[in-house]
Amino acid sequence: MNKALSIFIGVLISTSAFAQSDPNLGIIPAPVSITRANGNFILDKSTVLINQSIDGAKSADLLNAFIVNKAGFALRESKVPQPSQKSILLTSTGSDKLPAEGYTIKVTTNQITIVGKGAGLFYGVESAMQMMPDKIADKITVPAVTIEDYPRFSYRGAMLDVCRHYFPLSFIKKYIDHLAYYKINTFHWHLTDDQGWRLEIKKYPKLTTVGSSRNGSIIGNYPGNGNYLTPVKGFYTQDEAKEIVKYAAERFVTVIPEIELPGHASAAIAAYPELSCFPDRDTFVSDKTPWAGSRKGKQVQQTWGVFDDIFVPSENTFTMLNNILDEVIAIFPSKYIHIGGDEAPKTYWKESPFCQALMKEKGLKDEHELQSYFIQTIEKHVNAKGRSIIGWDEILEGGLAPNATVMSWRGEAGGIAAAQQNHDVIMTPGSMGLYIDHKQSNSPDEPVTIGGFAPYQKIYAYDPIPKVLTADQRKYIKGVQANMWTEYIKTPEKAENHAFPRLLALSEIAWSPVERKDLKNFSEERLPKHLARLDQMNINYWVPTPIGQSDKALSGGDFTIDLKAPVKGSKIYYSLDGSRPSENAFLYTSPVKVTVPQGEKRLLRTIVIAPSGKRSVTTETLLNNGAPEDKTTTKK
Ligand code: ACM
Repeated sequence: MNKALSIFIGVLISTSAFAQSDPNLGIIPAPVSITRANGNFILDKSTVLINQSIDGAKSADLLNAFIVNKAGFALRESKVPQPSQKSILLTSTGSDKLPAEGYTIKVTTNQITIVGKGAGLFYGVESAMQMMPDKIADKITVPAVTIEDYPRFSYRGAMLDVCRHYFPLSFIKKYIDHLAYYKINTFHWHLTDDQGWRLEIKKYPKLTTVGSSRNGSIIGNYPGNGNYLTPVKGFYTQDEAKEIVKYAAERFVTVIPEIELPGHASAAIAAYPELSCFPDRDTFVSDKTPWAGSRKGKQVQQTWGVFDDIFVPSENTFTMLNNILDEVIAIFPSKYIHIGGDEAPKTYWKESPFCQALMKEKGLKDEHELQSYFIQTIEKHVNAKGRSIIGWDEILEGGLAPNATVMSWRGEAGGIAAAQQNHDVIMTPGSMGLYIDHKQSNSPDEPVTIGGFAPYQKIYAYDPIPKVLTADQRKYIKGVQANMWTEYIKTPEKAENHAFPRLLALSEIAWSPVERKDLKNFSEERLPKHLARLDQMNINYWVPTPIGQSDKALSGGDFTIDLKAPVKGSKIYYSLDGSRPSENAFLYTSPVKVTVPQGEKRLLRTIVIAPSGKRSVTTETLLNNGAPEDKTTTKK
C-alpha cells in the first residue's frame, strides 16, 4: 500500500452508520436502489477478502484498512474463494453492463459481492464501509441487501479559492479525501485572482515572486475596525500541483485548474504591468484602507472587490497567457481548463485607444464582443492542445466561444441560456445555496461571512436541472458544484466549518436520483452519524441546530418542545429565561412542555454540544402568547 493511500485510510474512522430503520443504510449520497433481503452477513475473523477486479487493489486495501479500524482485525486476502467460506468479493465481472462510475453490492448470508471497475468499484467499497455498523463481540452484522448505484450527474464539483487566502498542501489533500468519500469527483482549484497568483509558472517567475503576496487583507476589519495589515502569501510549486493531481487521481477526483482572465488579474498585472491597458497607472486602492494613497505602481489587491485593471487584449498578452496555459496543461491532465471570464469591467477597455482601435480592426461592435474575442482566442489555443474551456456565465456576453462549457453562478439564467444554445453547463448558482462561503444560519453567533444565507437544507432542496429546459436541452446540464470563496476564510478550520455538512448535501443532489431525495431521512438518520464521524476525526464541521427547533416565532399558550440531536452522541442544552445556554443550562432529555401566560412570551434558546466538545451556534425560538414582539428578552 502506498503512503498517500495509507494516510487516506488513516482518516477513515468508521461511521456506525447502519440502523435497521434507515432505508438508506446510512449511505450518503443515497444510492439509486436498495432492496433488502432476509438474513445478515456476519463479518468476523474468518471472513476472507478476495480481489478479482481488474483495477481494485487500492480499493481492497482501503476496505481492509477500514475493517482493521472498525473491527480490530484484518481480513485474510485470497485470490480464490473456497466453497462455503464467508468472503467479501471485489470483482469487475459484470461491470461492463453498469453505467459510468456505477457499482452494485450484493450481500447474502455467505458473501458480500461488490461489482465495479475504477471509480465504480471505489464508490462501491465506500458505500459498503458506510453501511457497516459497529462491531459487537468482534462481529459486524451486515444486512442482506442488493444495492444498485450510479450517479445522476457526471460532474460533481467543489471549488476552493486559494487566492484570497492560501491553504497548505496538507489541507488540500484532506479536502480531496472528503470529496472522494462523498463521491464528489471534481476539485476546481481557483488558483489566480486579484489577491494572489498561487501557481508557479516557470517562464514567468514574477507571477509568484511578486504576485503571490499581499501586504494586507480585510480579515479582522469587517465589520468594524481592525487590522488590515495581515499579510497573505504562498504558492504551489509545479511539483506540488502535480502531487495534488496524483493524489486526487488515486481517489478518482479530477483537478480542474482555474486561471482567471481577462479580469480578476491584479496579481498578474502587479508582476507584469505590461499585461494592463495602462501599465503606468497606479493600482486602484480603496480610500477606506489605511494605505490609501500611500502606494504607487501596480499592486496585488489587499481588499476584495472587482477591479478595472484587466488584461489588455494585445499580442503580448495572448503570447504570455498561451505560454502560461501550456505549463498549466502540462501539469493538469483534466479535459477542462477553467479560464474564469467573470466580472471583467469594461472601463479600461473603453478608455484604451489600443482596445478601441482593435475593436474597429476586428469589427467588434462593443466591449462585450471584445470580451468574447478574448475568450475565443484563448479557447482556440486550449482546444489546439486537446482541451476544453469552462468559463463563468459572463462568457455568454458578446457570444459564446464555440466549445465552451458555462458555469452558471449568477442564478440559473446563464446556465439556461447556454443549454438552449446546446452548450454544456455546470450549475453553481449562489442564490440556490451553492456558495458555501455564505452563512449557515441566522444566529448572531455565526462567524463573519461575506453575507448570503445558505443552510445545507437550501442546497439539498436545489435541483440542478431547470424545469424550463426541454428534455433535449436538459442533457447539457452536466452537473453541479459548490463554491467556497475565501476572503473571510483564513484558516483550514474555518474552511472546514463552511464545507461541512454542506458538501454532504451537495453530494446527494449531485449523485442521487431526484426521487430518492428525502430531507428528513438525510437530516435525521444519516447526517447525525456522518457528523459523529467528522467529530471523531476532529474536523471543524458546523454543528447543526437541534432537529425540530423552529427558527421562526411560534404563537400560542401551550408548547411541547420536541427536539432531536443533530450529531449522534451530542447533547442539547436549553434555557427559557433569556440566558445564553451552555452546559450549565437545562439538559434536554425528553419533550418539554412550556406554558406561556396570555400576553407574555418566552424565549427558547438552545445549544448543541457534540462529543468532541464542538458547539453549535445558539438557536432561538420565540414562544409568544399575544405579547408585543419587538422587545427582546435575550441576555447576551
Ligand atoms: C464569481 O463568484 N465571481 C464567479
